[in-house]
Amino acid sequence: MYRTYTCGELRLSDAGKEVTLAGWVQRTRKMGGMTFVDLRDRYGITQLVFNEAIDAELFEQANHLGREYCIRVKGTVNERSNKNKNLPTGEIELVVSFLNVLSESVTPPFTIEDNTDGGDDLRMKYRYLDLRRSCVRKNLELRHRMTILIRNFLDAHNFIEVETPILIGSTPEGARDFVVPSRMNPGQFYALPQSPQTLKQLLMIAGFDRYFQIAKCFRDEDLRADRQPEFTQIDCEMSFVEQDDVINLFEDMARHLFKEIRGVELPAKLQQMTWAEAMRRFGSDKPDLRFGMEFIEAMDVLKGTGTFSVFDNAEYIGGICVPGCANYTRKQLDQLTDFVKKPQIGAKGLVYVKYDEDGTIKSSIDKFYAPEVFLKLKEKMGAKNGDLVLILSGDNANRTRVQLCSLRLEMGDRLGLRDKNKFECLWIIDFPLFEWSDEEQRLMSTHHPFTMPNPDDVSLLDEHPEKVRAKAYDFVCNGIEVGGGSLRIHDSKLQEKMFQVLGFTQEKAMAQFGFLINAFKYGAPPHAGLAFGLDRFVSIMAGLDSIRDCIAFPKNNSGRDVMLDAPSELDPKQLDELQLKIDLKKE
Ligand code: AMO
Repeated sequence: MYRTYTCGELRLSDAGKEVTLAGWVQRTRKMGGMTFVDLRDRYGITQLVFNEAIDAELFEQANHLGREYCIRVKGTVNERSNKNKNLPTGEIELVVSFLNVLSESVTPPFTIEDNTDGGDDLRMKYRYLDLRRSCVRKNLELRHRMTILIRNFLDAHNFIEVETPILIGSTPEGARDFVVPSRMNPGQFYALPQSPQTLKQLLMIAGFDRYFQIAKCFRDEDLRADRQPEFTQIDCEMSFVEQDDVINLFEDMARHLFKEIRGVELPAKLQQMTWAEAMRRFGSDKPDLRFGMEFIEAMDVLKGTGTFSVFDNAEYIGGICVPGCANYTRKQLDQLTDFVKKPQIGAKGLVYVKYDEDGTIKSSIDKFYAPEVFLKLKEKMGAKNGDLVLILSGDNANRTRVQLCSLRLEMGDRLGLRDKNKFECLWIIDFPLFEWSDEEQRLMSTHHPFTMPNPDDVSLLDEHPEKVRAKAYDFVCNGIEVGGGSLRIHDSKLQEKMFQVLGFTQEKAMAQFGFLINAFKYGAPPHAGLAFGLDRFVSIMAGLDSIRDCIAFPKNNSGRDVMLDAPSELDPKQLDELQLKIDLKKE
């Protein structure tokens, strides 16, 4: 046998056994006539001992072992005199009698331990070494466990896993597509799926009733901590269901995952909050409910006094009450003002009111308002002595709320209220069916064009499409959109109407979605579905800052794989075969 045990397995009860281990040299320590080696594999670390007094030649060999050498050893399990309580194998060591170097290693570019000296780029370039670190490996093990739990859960609920193609057609609604040229069809391109959305709907028309897929999705969009160009969805679709059937089932799945993975019991029923309420109370369609500081509108107190034109002209004045922060210094308040004025946030300024412990009130706008106004504001904001009230205003209510949301999250971070071991999940429902795109200068689908309008709002489609609510729902945890889905339109007439409102001509709709519009003519069942982002779900469970940490080979923020050096230029021969010419725009 190549090895008889793994490096994480041996315990005191194995003392005296002759065993064989294989793994990598994490560290060697020479102490007089003894050399200690930490031998690592996926399962753990076992301490090896080479004793000069027992075998001088072997001892000499051990002293030539370098970091990350791949070795095989035989020896006897021995009780350690100096036990390591932090290691599962810490009560034993292996007294080595045979050493076989399987493969030498050059000096690795960074230390392969949890606390590494390697920066982000270096670790990504040598990701196969980074993956040897137990803190990274554990995230992938968790991902595997979650995937297995999900597969088993869905299988037990009659879902069948169906693979859908990766080379499909371009659907310009939504994010940008990644495209692939076709050699056999010169001048034509496949697109990689942004999600298997239309295909899973076709599977419902095909009568599959319950489908799922752990699906790779591709979107050419700007990257952030929770976005990769290539990511994985737990993609699901069901027939003959209402919105609550879908919500209940996937809530049960989430409950099962939290219980199994984190030992956390989610409430028996998760809160459902309408989009409008989430925007009003938190300025976000993915509110972080781990902490309070809800928005309080202060228009009635601060607008229309004729003393402060900024507020008099505002469409929205609202703020948050930050408990215990009245002692914030000038410098701290200036930092917060700079924060809200950053271009990504875009507020014009920040107003503060400090309600000191001794009852004095200090504010950036005290010359504009009488002291009674600040007392009224105190009551309105529910502020106590010692609290700090932060206020934003603007001429577009929703935009100002979004700015206030960034401030709320910043204060949550500063006060340590966004605890990674706390999980607050909820559903956001009743999204607007359409949203205005400044870039396209037209209404776009908030989710996708197959989402069912709320039946109560269908009459508004012609005159007031912006007021139509969607039968759509998002699963939000700790301020992150983990999943989203909707009831689908299964009536081809209504689907055509949707395309019309979205500004598609009939020809354009048929050219892009004809396959689906036609399929709807063949007895389409009512259906609905949802997709969780697997990367986001795993990273929340593992308490990670970025989804990159739970992806084996992620891209960096410029969408590059620095290890594979992709994307890269094509060989002229390949371009020729594809009949493609590169015509780069000059910078
Ligand atoms: P949606 O576009 O909301 O819905 O995506 C579903 C979930 O996928 C995850 N996600 C991402 N994760 C990492 N990187 C990205 N770039 C990225 N984009 C999305 C999110 C999100 O909640 N077809 C519909 C689902 C449906 O209606 O059934 C869809 O794709 O966690």
